[in-house]
Amino acid sequence: MGNASQNGSALIDPDSIPKRKLYTGANLPAIGLGTFGSDSVSPAQVAEAVRGAAAVGYRHFDCASVYGNEPEVGAALEAIVAGGVKREELWVTSKLWNDKHGGEDVIASCRKSLADLRLAYLDLYLVHWPFPNFHPPGCDVTSRSADAKPYIHENYMKTWRKMEELVDMGLVRHIGTSNMTVPKLRLVLRDARIKPAVNEMELHPHFQQPELFKFVVENGIQPIGYCPIGSPGRPERDRTPEDTTPTEDPVIVKIARRHGIHPAVVCIKWAAQRGQTPIPFSIHNYRANLAGVVGDPLNDDEMREIAGIDRNCRLIKGQVFLWKDGQTWEDLWDLNGEITPP
Ligand SMILES: NC(=O)c1ccc[n+]([C@@H]2O[C@H](COP(=O)([O-])OP(=O)(O)OC[C@H]3O[C@@H](n4cnc5c(N)ncnc54)[C@H](OP(=O)(O)O)[C@@H]3O)[C@@H](O)[C@H]2O)c1
Repeated sequence: MGNASQNGSALIDPDSIPKRKLYTGANLPAIGLGTFGSDSVSPAQVAEAVRGAAAVGYRHFDCASVYGNEPEVGAALEAIVAGGVKREELWVTSKLWNDKHGGEDVIASCRKSLADLRLAYLDLYLVHWPFPNFHPPGCDVTSRSADAKPYIHENYMKTWRKMEELVDMGLVRHIGTSNMTVPKLRLVLRDARIKPAVNEMELHPHFQQPELFKFVVENGIQPIGYCPIGSPGRPERDRTPEDTTPTEDPVIVKIARRHGIHPAVVCIKWAAQRGQTPIPFSIHNYRANLAGVVGDPLNDDEMREIAGIDRNCRLIKGQVFLWKDGQTWEDLWDLNGEITPP
């Protein structure tokens, strides 16, 4: 399978990985392995990467039912525990897909992920997107669902109540949000009985989301950063001509040369030092990314330089969630600070 080509096998002590203290007191490892293989990486290859990543010291895995590989990842997790890693040392996240919002589907979906992942509990369960919507996996960005709905807070809270129930039932240790905005999160924080422990959001040097980042941190919510490298392997359907590539940014390239590392690892170091938890996907380079968060930190000048290259370039725009004609993807992200009306 060749997954291990550039990874090496030397263990990085999991205790040396920085931890984020969540408001519950739990410790979240400050880097996780993404598991979205997109169109190009098979479930078996992702599972192999999970096994290999655990062998070099990863303890945090970012999964989701929609990634279509939880059964294979589950077999890998079972093997990792059978190999001597205690379940309590692992941090496993899964996510509720968009067509399962609302009533009993939330509990059933979580149980299905638990069964697939071969776990008795999840460390974190996220509402993957705030929009309830069915669209076939792998569909084009121009695809629209006839039943697409806007964000309706009342409905989101129906889903959130079920998420809270999962905590009460002991199936899930923490719950969180993903792909949210400040105005949506304000309402959730106002109405939640169990507050989100994390918000998973796109974060990389060209999309730093300073306002949302500050908001979640100030509210005791840990930001988890997806596409931390700028998702160079994402499919054509997720690309637009105006997208930029953080790993090609002259500042990132210069710092990478100085440290003798790949520009991707600079993105990971910056993320971990800034305070978000990056979850890079990798089958070839996961060890380098883990090594990046445990040693040779970027200095203050380098951190400042990277803070200066934000291009406000959102890569995962979410076009398939648009609910009426004449909208643009910006309508999903409440850019003027108010939830876009239905
Ligand atoms: N909540 C959400 O809505 C949401 C949305 C998108 C993604 N996610 C999560 O975030 C994870 C990460 O996002 P992503 O997979 O789109 O993008 P990403 O992590 O930014 O980029 C992954 C790509 O970077 C390459 N790469 C990784 N480390 C490298 C290194 N050190 N040197 C060179 N290349 C390197 C990988 O190739 P190799 O495999 O060859 O190393 C892979 O092609 C996903 O897997 C998923 O778990 C969540």
